[in-house]
Amino acid sequence: MCGIIGIASNKSVSINIINALKKLEYRGYDSAGLATITKGEINEKKCPGRVEKLEKILFQNPSEGKLGIGHVRWATHGVPNKVNAHPHSSEIVSVVHNGIIENSDELKKKLEISGQIFKSQTDTEVITILLTEKLKKLDPLNAVFETLDMLKGSFALGIIFKNFQDFVIGARRGSPLAVGYSNNENYLGSDSYALKSMTNKISYLDDGDVCLLSKDQIKFYNSKKEKINKEIFTLSDDKSSVSKGNYKNFMIKEIFEQPISIKTCLKEYIDKIREEINFYNLPINPKDIEKIVLIGCGTAYHSCLVAKYWLEELTSLTIETDIASEFRYRKVRFDKKALYIFVSQSGETADTYAALDICKKQNVKTCSIINVVESSIARHSDCVLPIHAGPEIGVASTKAFLGQMLVLYLLSLKISESRKDIDQIQYKRKIIDLKKLPSLITETLKEEEKIQLIAKDIYTSKGSMFLGRGSSFPIALEGALKLKELSYLHAEGYPAGEMKHGPLALIEDGLPVVVIAPKDKYFEKTISNMQEVIARGGKILLITNSVGQVISENVRFQIDLPESDLSLTPFLFSVPLQLLSYHVALFKKCDIDKPRNLAKSVTVE
Ligand code: G6P
Repeated sequence: MCGIIGIASNKSVSINIINALKKLEYRGYDSAGLATITKGEINEKKCPGRVEKLEKILFQNPSEGKLGIGHVRWATHGVPNKVNAHPHSSEIVSVVHNGIIENSDELKKKLEISGQIFKSQTDTEVITILLTEKLKKLDPLNAVFETLDMLKGSFALGIIFKNFQDFVIGARRGSPLAVGYSNNENYLGSDSYALKSMTNKISYLDDGDVCLLSKDQIKFYNSKKEKINKEIFTLSDDKSSVSKGNYKNFMIKEIFEQPISIKTCLKEYIDKIREEINFYNLPINPKDIEKIVLIGCGTAYHSCLVAKYWLEELTSLTIETDIASEFRYRKVRFDKKALYIFVSQSGETADTYAALDICKKQNVKTCSIINVVESSIARHSDCVLPIHAGPEIGVASTKAFLGQMLVLYLLSLKISESRKDIDQIQYKRKIIDLKKLPSLITETLKEEEKIQLIAKDIYTSKGSMFLGRGSSFPIALEGALKLKELSYLHAEGYPAGEMKHGPLALIEDGLPVVVIAPKDKYFEKTISNMQEVIARGGKILLITNSVGQVISENVRFQIDLPESDLSLTPFLFSVPLQLLSYHVALFKKCDIDKPRNLAKSVTVE
């Protein structure tokens, strides 16, 4: 993963590098570093840990210099320590890298045979050593192109040179890279978000592109070394706050923002006067669609699973779901009459992007559901459906998950109505019900205190299970994922009906089992499965909307959510699960916004 930044300026760059790195920490936060050209020499500083630590190092010992690169790391090759942190520098060149060099072992062996000595365990150092060798004979641009020719894998690079102090070189293959323009200062960054506080004028590198960035101009080259021009985009003025306000951390703020983010998204897609859902730019007429394929990773994949239930219920279409990292390597039969939908909060997830790219090459119709509208996935797909959730900073996705489900639900309804799978009365009724969602979520959030007590009761457990049927099954998966991510407590999500085929063996006295049981067509079946767990000693937390009715004396805790249209239960039932994982993690004193080993945007496969 990792985040990279580069700045060429007429003034000192280290403070701006640090500020941009703080914004890139969502891509990795196990170590940080920067290199500037100070008094004619490469001046490298790096440390394991957060950018804050690097900032303290710089405070004690500032790095002067008008040209520099910076990096936040999410370890792929080698443990997170100072030596493996980026930049990787020789006396004459310094490199920051996002991505994976797949043939690094092979290259390393050859270089070692020829007498080169490696300091780190990283794949990146291979680039530094190759460049150092090539710079003995070539100018920087040709040295970079020759080095790139030797690399396999995906990467975005930022490079500075001791003997060429006017420019930073950037290169992209697979991993995203943007440049930003300003007066007497230009920038290179893993995304536009990192550059946003410095400029709103952005261009994006395409695969194979290289750029040469000095303080007053940026030159672009394609993979054939031909000079090219790039379109300059003006970034939208996103006024949504990225501060925690009065909240303890971003995650809880984002959980409580959900009524507003859902309301905003509804306003974007529902025409108030006609009570009609608007999707103007779908790449295929809903009447002509024969199949829908939904693809994503992590939480985004769970939203795809929920949508499968909606689409199957509301339309007569064939629906498939796929994990992007599996889809991209399978021998998939592509279908010209299918719509391939890619769901991603960041719009930068490497596997999702690769799956989209495969679809594009097959000339099938694509559509993306994303939060970051300037992202690579948004720019590459035929049609973009933003979720309008505003920036999500907490690594564990919450409001983006509800936003993804919302756009998928709206799309399901629209496709169903266009194909006349549901009639107008049903369609309009569903829209009216949907508009109640923000206030229903507000109501659900009131359960927080009760959930806090439950968290206190279960946080010392060794493990936990989450069970559901129908669309509550993916919600169980998501609840388990949240708990794992945030509190490092083992959690399994399972279809309640599958328990007897193995997982029931895990149930022992006191094991917390969260049962998600809205009063839908599965309710009785789920409750029977719950009884089987109770009979084996499981400690039940039942989440239902059975309006105060006591379902079983043996349920340890029962949370009653407001009644709603049954299609909406995935939204409401997600909220207590988010709060549960949050409070368990608080009791366990975990880092809520930056759980260990994870990153917000996963730009490696
Ligand atoms: C990471 C994040 C998850 C997220 C997944 C997919 O694993 O930690 O929260 O669900 O990536 O990210 P995307 O940006 O594609 O939704």
